[in-house]
Amino acid sequence: AVSVIILAGGKGERFWPRSRESMPKQFIRLLDQGTMLQLTFNRARKMVSVNHIYVVTARPYVDLVKQQLPGLPAANIIVEPEGRNTAPCIGLAAILLQHKDSESVMVILPADHYVADNDRFVQTLKTGVRLATDKEAFITLGIVPTRPETGYGYIELGEQKKYSGAVYFEVKSFTEKPDYQTAQAYLGSGNFLWNSGMFIWKTSSILRAMETYQPQLYEGLCQIGRGLNEGDFEQRLLQVYGKLPKQSIDYAILEKANNILVVPGDFGWDDVGSWAALSRLFEVDSEGNYLQGSVVTIGAHNCIIDGKTKLIAAVGVDNLVVIDTEDVLLICPKERSQDIKLILEELRKQR
Ligand code: GDD
Ligand code: MG
Repeated sequence: AVSVIILAGGKGERFWPRSRESMPKQFIRLLDQGTMLQLTFNRARKMVSVNHIYVVTARPYVDLVKQQLPGLPAANIIVEPEGRNTAPCIGLAAILLQHKDSESVMVILPADHYVADNDRFVQTLKTGVRLATDKEAFITLGIVPTRPETGYGYIELGEQKKYSGAVYFEVKSFTEKPDYQTAQAYLGSGNFLWNSGMFIWKTSSILRAMETYQPQLYEGLCQIGRGLNEGDFEQRLLQVYGKLPKQSIDYAILEKANNILVVPGDFGWDDVGSWAALSRLFEVDSEGNYLQGSVVTIGAHNCIIDGKTKLIAAVGVDNLVVIDTEDVLLICPKERSQDIKLILEELRKQR
């Protein structure tokens, strides 16, 4: 069967101060229709029944997941004792799925992405599922790049192929988070797609790749997995998980595997990586401002202003991010909105 695994354990630091350690990006409501997690869950439901949707998250977020997804069976929340990045959490989901159904196909969706066209999105995923079912391959969904973003993975296109009416490509190489110069060269060459961070593969294939490329991770997962037959799964998970190597699936597997395919996706995608993304995604006023809450502006341009508590007034300012919450007021130029992470580091030092 096909199962959707929603990754919901990231910290989402770049949306501070709206996102906090206790409330990361996937749980906040950036859109009126729901939180990022809820919107991801609704998209997943268009593909599979709720029984086949799993959410992987760390212990502190379990209650938020339950509150926000009352329709998700509680048994389908996979709880990591602590966050150790995406390779271990995908591995954990894989051994649990494998135990239930050795023929299963996993669709992996980050919980915090924006998608404009849900129907097209589902169609693209279905193509990926058919490919993954038929071939021993790792299926990625690629997005046409529009800027030399260094926070993404880049997929180099090989030969174009057709499969029951849909187009896909073989993948020549996968490069995670290149430096700025390399990203610029990739963008200019026209032969690369962004990795969207959504993946489809057979559970057995990803476990075999972990065995080949990440033997230490694989060994740990097998130790945990033995607990499923021996009745001490929880104990083993607590003992072993915290020792698994902290690595993302992109570095751990995708940069190394040689049987990757990519299905190009054109469904209006953004990973909403920082406050600056909001003015790319949502309606702005005639001066290019993205305003939320009660805000009045005179001669302000291309600003992002979000206030929930008091009236915010801005006169003659450009390219500013102003985020007002109960206890924190953030002010920063838009082009530095990635650097909010640095503020958090600084605050941790002072604590
Ligand atoms: N459960 C769980 N546990 N989820 C996690 C953990 C963890 O330890 N760490 C991260 N996640 C979740 C995040 O919440 C997010 O939904 C997803 O996994 C991806 O993690 P990010 O930390 O956001 O990755 P990234 O944005 O730096 O890079 C990935 O996504 C890019 C596109 O947005 C890579 O796949 C890139 O190649 C890709 O371009
Ligand atoms: Mg991300």
